[in-house]
Parts: sequence; C-alpha cells; structure tokens
Amino acid sequence: MAPPTSSAVTLRINGEKHTLPVDHRTTLLDALREQLDLTGTKKGCDQGQCGACTVLLDGRRAVSCLQLAVAAEGREITTIEGVADGERLHPVQQAFLDLDGYQCGYCTPGQICSALAVIEEHAAGWPSAVTADVRPEAGVPALTADEIRERMSGNLCRCGAYVSIVQAVARAAGAAGAPVVPRQGTGPGDAGAPADGEAAA
Ligand code: FES
Ligand code: FES
Repeated sequence: MAPPTSSAVTLRINGEKHTLPVDHRTTLLDALREQLDLTGTKKGCDQGQCGACTVLLDGRRAVSCLQLAVAAEGREITTIEGVADGERLHPVQQAFLDLDGYQCGYCTPGQICSALAVIEEHAAGWPSAVTADVRPEAGVPALTADEIRERMSGNLCRCGAYVSIVQAVARAAGAAGAPVVPRQGTGPGDAGAPADGEAAA
C-alpha cells in the first residue's frame, strides 16, 4: 500500500489551534493563505528570496514559503493577523503607519514580522554581519541605520520604501528601550534613525 500523502495537522496560530488536512507538500504559506484564509502573509517569490511571507515560529523569523505545514505542527506561529492587541496596533505597526514605512504595502506584513524579531534579537545582544565589536563584553551594539539595514536585509521592498522602513524600525526599537543612533543629515539616501525625541515617542 502506498504511504499516505496527506495528514491532519494541528497548527497553533496567533494563540488559536486549527486542525486541517494538508497534503504533505503544502507549504505553511499556502496553508495559511489558501486553507485558513489568513491572507495577511503574502506570497512574493515563493522561493525564499523576498521575505514577503515572513512569519514568526516560536518567536524567530521564518519564510513560510520554505516551511512545510506538517513541520510547523507544535510550533507557535505568529502571523501579521496576530500582532495587534485587538484594535490597538503594536508599536512596530504604529511606527510603520506614522512614518510611511510602505507604499503599496505588499511587503509590509513580512517587514513588520521581521522587525518584531529584529528588535528582540538586538535586545538579546545578537550581533549582525555589520556589528563592529562582537565580543560579549562589548554589550548590545547601538542600533544604527546600517545595523537595521543589515538585519532587515532579508525583506525586499519593490517600492523602495527602505528609508522610511529603517526609520520605523528605529522608532519602534527606541520605544522599546534600544540604544538607537540619531539621524545624521537629511539628504537623499540618508536612512538614519529618527532623532532622539522621535525614537522615544
Ligand atoms: S514568498 Fe517566501 S521569501 Fe518570497
Ligand atoms: S511597499 Fe510596495 S513592495 Fe514594499
């Protein structure tokens, strides 16, 4: 007898359990969008290169187009639908809204999910590829624009809203108590973090 090609899986998404039948080849992205109607998570490239499908798995970033739904069983899955607290936006969402961290908005759910994890990773002292001093005694690196760009580099924006995205992440991180670096200058291409007052807003 041929082995089964589908199974019933129970996925815990945004704090709720969903039991659904899935073909073993179904990605988490397709299960979310096509079977559970959670269409906030977007499909861009469908091959792990654009970040539009980013969700959190146990608090860590994951591209859901490269994750099989059956492999996500037992994990805590957070999608953009689970980020706000009821009607109250999460500070990261509010910062994207206030600072125009988007144009068409297609990449935005993935950008916001990624930013949530970036802020956590940074606060936990994780270095990035551009962190100058990675010795443990150096402590948490300042969240410069370069740090944010590097840490968010897995999320592409075809509208090129990067300047505002960097500012929104900086503001949200500053509100969460991260040491951010004030913006230097205002010229084109300057993606520095907002000034101190802004970051603390
Ligand atoms: S749709 Fe998953 S990375 Fe592009
Ligand atoms: S806002 Fe349009 S792709 Fe990013």
